[in-house]
Amino acid sequence: MGAIDVAAIAKSEGESMVKREEERMGEAEYMKGVRHLCDTGVTKVPNRYILPAPDRPHIVRCGDSTNSHNLKLPIIDLSLLHTPKRAMALEALSMACKEYGFFQVVNHGIPSEVIEDMIDVSKRFFGMPYDEREKYMSSDLRSPVRYGTSFNQIKDRVFCWRDFLKLSCQPLESVLPFWPSSPADMREKTSAYANGMKSLFKELMSAILESLGVSMNALSEFDDGSHLMVVNCFPPCPEPNLTLGMPPHSDYGFLTLLLQDQVAGLQVQYKDEWVTIDPVPGAFVVNIGDHLEIFSNGIYKSILHRVLVNSLQNRISIASLHSMPVEKVISPAAELVSESSPKRYMDTDFTTFLKYISSTEFKKKNFLESRKLTRTMDQTTEGQLF
Ligand code: OGA
Ligand code: NI
Repeated sequence: MGAIDVAAIAKSEGESMVKREEERMGEAEYMKGVRHLCDTGVTKVPNRYILPAPDRPHIVRCGDSTNSHNLKLPIIDLSLLHTPKRAMALEALSMACKEYGFFQVVNHGIPSEVIEDMIDVSKRFFGMPYDEREKYMSSDLRSPVRYGTSFNQIKDRVFCWRDFLKLSCQPLESVLPFWPSSPADMREKTSAYANGMKSLFKELMSAILESLGVSMNALSEFDDGSHLMVVNCFPPCPEPNLTLGMPPHSDYGFLTLLLQDQVAGLQVQYKDEWVTIDPVPGAFVVNIGDHLEIFSNGIYKSILHRVLVNSLQNRISIASLHSMPVEKVISPAAELVSESSPKRYMDTDFTTFLKYISSTEFKKKNFLESRKLTRTMDQTTEGQLF
């Protein structure tokens, strides 16, 4: 070997500086979200969004309903709860919560106009120029309004193909002034929808408590319980096999009420397979969250779900997450704990959950797993992660 090639080293250092600069600029661009990225005209999925091969979805003609990977969830007709068929409807509800952790509801009493207006105003919100949407960006998990991208954009190593607007809804009168003021009818349409979701949630919880055979006293805890709405936007993706709209996760609350537009994308885990939930016009998809799994002492299941993206259509969904007040400690209902069925979860509060998600890259079902008590462990030993 001859003398050290100083010029070559300088050149390669120069190149890597250019590369780093590109990455840095890319990073700032990615933080603006996928809607913005699409507006710049991407034709390939940037590396930042490409999942490791084992985590990528295997998309098998997702819109095809003859496909065995599409699942018909139980459909609960809520109008039956007000008829002599109530017991039958409760039985169907209980079966769905145990077997799938997910179901759809129809005849729920939410006017179709309220639903259509919510989808419409959400589309118009995401259709506004980036500068308008950016006003609502915040990294503070407790802020009443948060616009953002991916799942947890501070922690995620691989970004998801999703932008979101998170709106705290409790108490509605005090948070409303923080909600976006444009589009001009955003607050009006969204608060009508939020009120509808709150009453539907309470009706569902009353039926669920009855189906579990536990006291109705818990119902009053939901009057001023936490209520968060997440408006999700999944723009068309040039290479949908390489990324996800949302990674596998479970929801933290008691119930999530999900409105999806007519574009499929939601998948749930069922018998170790990912199955697509075909949208049913006018229905809500309801799923059990971690708090209800804990409260039911494991009888009802909080199931992993994820979102696929597609190359053709924009998809909008609105998730309403409900629970007890944030300061309330959630524990298994007394009626469901006995010598033959001991307490299976540690008491849990919202602060512990927030600490968990901000301290770690949010991976799969870890939070709920971290609250499980194992029979082999001394049940007074509750220290796992904290
Ligand atoms: C969520 C969620 C599913 C969807 O917001 O927690 O799981 O289809 N959304 O958007
Ligand atoms: Ni979810």
